Amino acid sequence: MIALRGVGKTYATPRGAVEAVAHVEAEVAPGEFVSLLGPSGCGKSTLLMMMAGLEAPSAGEVRLRGERVTGPSARNGLIFQDATLLPWKSALENVLFPVTLMRKPVKDYEERARALLAQVGLAGFEGKRPAELSGGMRQRVAICRALVDDPDLLLMDEPFSALDAITRDEMNEALVGIWDRAAGAKTAVFVTHSIREAVFLSDRVLVMTGRPSSIALDLPVPFPRPRRAEMQETPEFNALVRRLKACIADGYAGKAA
Ligand SMILES: Nc1ncnc2c1ncn2[C@@H]1O[C@H](COP(=O)(O)OP(=O)(O)OP(=O)(O)O)[C@@H](O)[C@H]1O
Ligand SMILES: [Mg+2]
Repeated sequence: MIALRGVGKTYATPRGAVEAVAHVEAEVAPGEFVSLLGPSGCGKSTLLMMMAGLEAPSAGEVRLRGERVTGPSARNGLIFQDATLLPWKSALENVLFPVTLMRKPVKDYEERARALLAQVGLAGFEGKRPAELSGGMRQRVAICRALVDDPDLLLMDEPFSALDAITRDEMNEALVGIWDRAAGAKTAVFVTHSIREAVFLSDRVLVMTGRPSSIALDLPVPFPRPRRAEMQETPEFNALVRRLKACIADGYAGKAA
């Protein structure tokens, strides 16, 4: 589904070049859920933007579904680090916005959009504009927007970091549920700072080094699906989290997330 071949990114800034991503080699198979962990500023968002076709690599190439990425595609569901909603549109209209962009009939998607909003606890808020919603609510609207056209690839950049701990747990369970129901039909790359969240959600965790970054560790998460929240209490789960934490502490030289 995704192939990163020698991918590097250097930003040109007025103060000189910033090498964000050095050399990334990675593959994501169809149906896989892969998390990216790494210290702040190591280039996780940059890497995701390159997969989304929103930043061009300075070296190497990104391929999605076997084709070289040259620009953004409506086939990918994107969730950014900061929820970017259109302020003059309601929550429901924001969720339906990609449908409008693709010139598909909005009516066909309205029921699905309402159901998605209800799933993330926003039933009754369909008509509210972003200014009338909390930060966490806005982020949940952005998640629904990414899912509205049922994309086969989801690229998510810390989608839950602005949520309170309880809502975040609920969102993690909702996402695991969506995954298990999709039964291999969806692929995801998920950026997070939470090791527990990465282990709970993923089939594989990629750990990035500090900037300029590359992939330091590629760790499979062997737990079966469907996954339940209770799994996070098991000794196996906690052992894997501890192991990952130790690897990260070594790799970051003390700058663990
Ligand atoms: N548009 C840009 N122009 C110049 N430099 C940039 C740009 N975007 C990112 N950078 C730099 O590239 C590096 C990687 O940034 P990036 O946002 O990818 O990190 P990140 O791993 O997502 O961090 P965080 O965990 O804090 O979100 C940083 O040093 C940042 O300052
Ligand atoms: Mg980022």
